[in-house]
Amino acid sequence: MAKKVQITETVLRDANQSLMATRLPYADYEGILSTMDKAGYYSVECWGGATFDSCLRYLGEDPWERLRNLRKNLPNTKLQMLLRGQNLLGYKHYHDDVVEKFVELSIKNGIDVIRIFDALNDFRNIKTALEATKKYATANTVASGCISYTQSPVHTVEKYIEMCKELKEMGFDTICLKDMAGTMSPYEAEHLIKGIKDAIGDMPIALHTHCTTGMAYMTLMKAVDSGVDIIDCATSCFSNGTSQPATETMFYALSQYGIETGLDEKLINEVNDYFKPIKQKYVDAGVLNPKSMATDAQALVYKVPGGMLSNMIANLTDMHAMDKFEEALAEIPAVRADMGYPPLVTPLSQMVGNQAVTNVLLGERYKQISKEIQNYIKGEYGIAPAPVSKELENKILGEGGKPVDCRDEDVKRTGNELKEAKEYLGDLAKSEEDLMSYICFPPQAEKYLKDRKAKEENSATYSIVEV
Ligand code: CO
Repeated sequence: MAKKVQITETVLRDANQSLMATRLPYADYEGILSTMDKAGYYSVECWGGATFDSCLRYLGEDPWERLRNLRKNLPNTKLQMLLRGQNLLGYKHYHDDVVEKFVELSIKNGIDVIRIFDALNDFRNIKTALEATKKYATANTVASGCISYTQSPVHTVEKYIEMCKELKEMGFDTICLKDMAGTMSPYEAEHLIKGIKDAIGDMPIALHTHCTTGMAYMTLMKAVDSGVDIIDCATSCFSNGTSQPATETMFYALSQYGIETGLDEKLINEVNDYFKPIKQKYVDAGVLNPKSMATDAQALVYKVPGGMLSNMIANLTDMHAMDKFEEALAEIPAVRADMGYPPLVTPLSQMVGNQAVTNVLLGERYKQISKEIQNYIKGEYGIAPAPVSKELENKILGEGGKPVDCRDEDVKRTGNELKEAKEYLGDLAKSEEDLMSYICFPPQAEKYLKDRKAKEENSATYSIVEV
């Protein structure tokens, strides 16, 4: 039995993202950061994922300024981010020089733990981000290699162990298993963690899961029993449902069990007290849908993440075709198998779901194939976990056609994004961070930078009058 396990608090990033579409502004939680800083977490996950996009698109915040503020107010805590490898925080592959600069700036502005994943577990897509992390690492930097967990005939325990060995060889400091759909059962966790621990020795392993299907507490307990080092939890009022298990609950259960977490009971309860009225504010405003806080075991039947189901329901409702829902659900496993069993995580969950709906609505498989799936078959996303169906491949690539190599060095090494962003933005951009915001989310960042400039000009005029 493990004697010690550490806890990552996710309220600022994943809980915020899973329960309320990442709409939590920095100002709402600034007041609790000094308490969180003393609570004894392994890390606070607070940046990356959808937070960057949300800052620019919805909240009128500079994500880099948010990060610097987090750093200032959490001086003793590791700040953690989630990074989609070569996609950074966006939805396309960027050139290596952009990836390197993004990682450099993330560390420079305060990030410690960079959790890096690729939707397909094609680790060539996380190599550049890892190398940049190592290049710009400070004494506190942790490069965490993250595996997108899924279930399929090719995703065996052995395969996951092989992936972990590969991540260790690549030079990652820790490994994270990321169960985005919450479909990892307690006994799967046991087999996985024991197998991985046997294979990679004392390299720390983190388990990230979601409560969506109701298994997460059991799964975390089995994982702890099996030697996992770090688990992800969310302060209790922002826990459960599509979010993580509750920090205080896990703390209590583990303490009863004689397992050290390093958490301060009084402080983690203070954190929860602070967030309670904030949560209520967003429930009242309809931003936080209480539905997302409930348990829904449907994902266990269909093996698809909760978010993907609600997406499909919304699409079918729009098209007045909800009578096709069951048929579309039944089509998902077939599409996924044809695509070589990709993990159903952004953007693949949406791609597979949309294609299943199209197949059913048109009454014929692959009569129409989305642009994204065509690019996937062409190899632009990376290598699929299992071979793609020949029929589908021939349809897109032609008889005997070969997919491209998404990591073709000549094409991918450097691009003109940085130079072009600088020329285009002119004096709107005041820093490399501004350029990076624009490269990742062009229209949203441009609007933010223009608004910022207008605000500055107004206050300048105002101060002249004052004088
Ligand atoms: Co998550």
